[in-house]
Amino acid sequence: MISKCLFPAAGYGTRFLPATKAMPKEMLPIVNKPLIQYGVEEALEAGCQMMAIVTGRGKRSIEDHFDISYELEHQIKGTDKESYLREIRSLINACSFSYTRQNEMRGLGHAILTGEILIGKEAFAVILADDLCTNLQGKGVLAQMIDLYKKYHCSIVAIEEVPMEEVDKYGIIEGEEIQEGVYRVFNMVEKPLKYESPSNLAVIGRYILTPDIFDILRVTKPGKKGEIQITDALLEQAKSGHVLAYKFQGRRYDCGSIDGFVKATNDFYQLLH
Ligand code: G1P
Repeated sequence: MISKCLFPAAGYGTRFLPATKAMPKEMLPIVNKPLIQYGVEEALEAGCQMMAIVTGRGKRSIEDHFDISYELEHQIKGTDKESYLREIRSLINACSFSYTRQNEMRGLGHAILTGEILIGKEAFAVILADDLCTNLQGKGVLAQMIDLYKKYHCSIVAIEEVPMEEVDKYGIIEGEEIQEGVYRVFNMVEKPLKYESPSNLAVIGRYILTPDIFDILRVTKPGKKGEIQITDALLEQAKSGHVLAYKFQGRRYDCGSIDGFVKATNDFYQLLH
């Protein structure tokens, strides 16, 4: 039902400099796999086979990663290293990848609007690869959200409770709980100060968006930090229809921060051993 997943991946990753000076932040590995590959695996598990990636200058290694490297395949064929490529090879076979470039950095809303050409007029998923999500108990976060979409047919954002000290790092929602863990959103604020935040329910990097979001984004004025914010467009959508917020099952690592990145690395290492 939702077959496309958009990955905004044009950002500079300044919080990880100098590591991200010549390498996309989406290619930073957690143990032996780049962040964006975890995202693609989550999308595929949720039933999305078409990956739409919004890139920018210096992001070519993302395209190379999701392509076959004939020299490498040839080199390791018949050796015990062949198994290392098995997983990425089957991922490449199971998905299609399309790319478009965002040539100006004007915010997440602008990045999503740039992806319109790859999405068209259908509901789609969005994954921000630096939010790495796991659910050891069952379905992945995006799969949970698509289940909810099948029932409600509207835009959905994934949320989690954060300490009030951290609300200024996120889009924050205010809503009415309509079923356990599901809120109908009536207010949303991008990165509010602690004392003006409507709640501590923070949006994390997983969205299901209905395609009318593109028309809203086209007329959304720059907001916080002078950027076009998806939060503002979603608030507009919530006013004229329905937007849901979903408290997902599982765990999120903020791999855009050093602390979250190290935590994810340690936890994933433990899982592998
Ligand atoms: C973006 C969104 C924000 C959301 C966050 C989730 O912010 O603008 O609303 O809460 O992603 O990771 P960024 O982290 O790009 O500053």
